Amino acid sequence: MKGRPEVVAVLVEVMRAELTASNQYLLGGAHARNAGFIKLATKLEAESKGEFEHARQCADRLLYLGAAPDGRLLADPVQKDSPIAQLEADLVLELAHASRLNGGIETARKAGDHASATLLESILVATEGHVDWLETQLDLAKKIGEGLYLAQQL
Ligand SMILES: [Fe+2]
Repeated sequence: MKGRPEVVAVLVEVMRAELTASNQYLLGGAHARNAGFIKLATKLEAESKGEFEHARQCADRLLYLGAAPDGRLLADPVQKDSPIAQLEADLVLELAHASRLNGGIETARKAGDHASATLLESILVATEGHVDWLETQLDLAKKIGEGLYLAQQL
């Protein structure tokens, strides 16, 4: 099936954003593991795989629509010195992505491509799950202090 160009453009951008997020979580996980925050690293590594899976789903959909998947990153992954600063940067990334997805869903629905919209919706639900987790971590770190929060991540 041939995809509408505006929907293809959304899927390409979302795929590239997913690859960016996958890389950012990969690097955040590596930094956390290197610093000894193994629990945090394990969670970030799982997020990285989840984002990679979203990119794969976009690639499958693009091929179905007769378009080429795009393996380039949308932006350079952000690497911060401290785990808390990294979580803040991850939250910025996820909030921007949620906004991108909300717009993309509207574009797909207007184009009558409901299956692409449904795929983007499932990615949005996961993205909001990440936002929720990140907000909770940052809130906890604020409440109990960064030192105590990080002591729970060993
Ligand atoms: Fe994702």
